[in-house]
Amino acid sequence: MTHKIAVLPGDGIGPEITEQAARVLGALGLDLAMETAPVGGAAYDAHGHPLPAATLDLAKNSSAILFGAVGDWKYDSLPRQFRPEQAILGLRKALGLFANLRPAILYPQLANASSLKPEVVSGLDILIVRELTGDIYFGQPRGVREVEEGSFKGEKQGFDTMHYAESEVRRIGHVAFQAAQKRSKRLCSVDKANVLETSQFWRDIMVDVAREYPDVELSHMYVDNAAMQLVRAPKEFDVIVTGNLFGDILSDEAAMLTGSIGMLPSASLNASNQGLYEPSHGSAPDIAGKNIANPLATILSAAMLLRYSLNEAAQADRIERAVQAVLEQGLRTADIHEAGTEKVSTSQMGDAVLKALK
Ligand code: IPM
Ligand code: MN
Repeated sequence: MTHKIAVLPGDGIGPEITEQAARVLGALGLDLAMETAPVGGAAYDAHGHPLPAATLDLAKNSSAILFGAVGDWKYDSLPRQFRPEQAILGLRKALGLFANLRPAILYPQLANASSLKPEVVSGLDILIVRELTGDIYFGQPRGVREVEEGSFKGEKQGFDTMHYAESEVRRIGHVAFQAAQKRSKRLCSVDKANVLETSQFWRDIMVDVAREYPDVELSHMYVDNAAMQLVRAPKEFDVIVTGNLFGDILSDEAAMLTGSIGMLPSASLNASNQGLYEPSHGSAPDIAGKNIANPLATILSAAMLLRYSLNEAAQADRIERAVQAVLEQGLRTADIHEAGTEKVSTSQMGDAVLKALK
């Protein structure tokens, strides 16, 4: 069976890094039909919209999406609905990609890249499961309105709405508990239940879902404390489950603990395991077009694509082993380069991974 894969390179370094990941996918000998379409600022420039209908259709009709990155300062002054970020938010919502898996792994070869002491981070391997289609990101109503009572009466006010429906919490809970079952069987649910109604509700539902997973130990932590513990003793965590907004923040923090955000992939899945796969880093417009960006996060995202959407775990392992091999060989792009290693370009890194696959 041919698997259709939408390749959406996007902005900044997106095209360079997805090119390398697509080469790797193409070299595996699988029956893949890869089709490229514009997204983000590039799509706005070409078609007047960050998520053109043709791109959305292609994504909907594919088994998986390989996504680069979107965004550039030059679009900052556009009305919100035309900004590049709307493409990724639109894809998440339209495809129901509610489960965002963001691993933060410290590669032993890159132990010095972290800003934390080696003993605090060595062997770090955590998984953040972020809910991705609910919360204050999508809650209605939102906007700017006039304040009708109280001390700010008569002023304008910006507002957003945070809410989670029971089934939304349950389904992300199941994803997280099942991920924990495959790992160390510890799950920490992060919320702000001491202040927010939405969080107390989230916590109550998680406790209920936990009854179906007696082998998994569920704990709860407030998000401010979690932010602190992630820097103090990150290895205390294994799987973290949290809402959209907290997950956005904590996953950047967790990624940076490894010192090498250029290495970290992510997957966003819906109920039928259709998925969007993208590096955890952004579009880095400052280094775009220079052939110096690290393609490994996108290549590792392609591995996640094989594992979660195509059910090709052996091929995913093959890519991950190839990435380990090039790190062992001492090859490093500029972002992870250190004394005693060999600095290579984006395309040279792609070449090296292809060679290591053989
Ligand atoms: C992310 C990004 C997005 C988010 C932006 C680009 C809308 O920061 O994927 O983490 O906030 O979810
Ligand atoms: Mn983010």
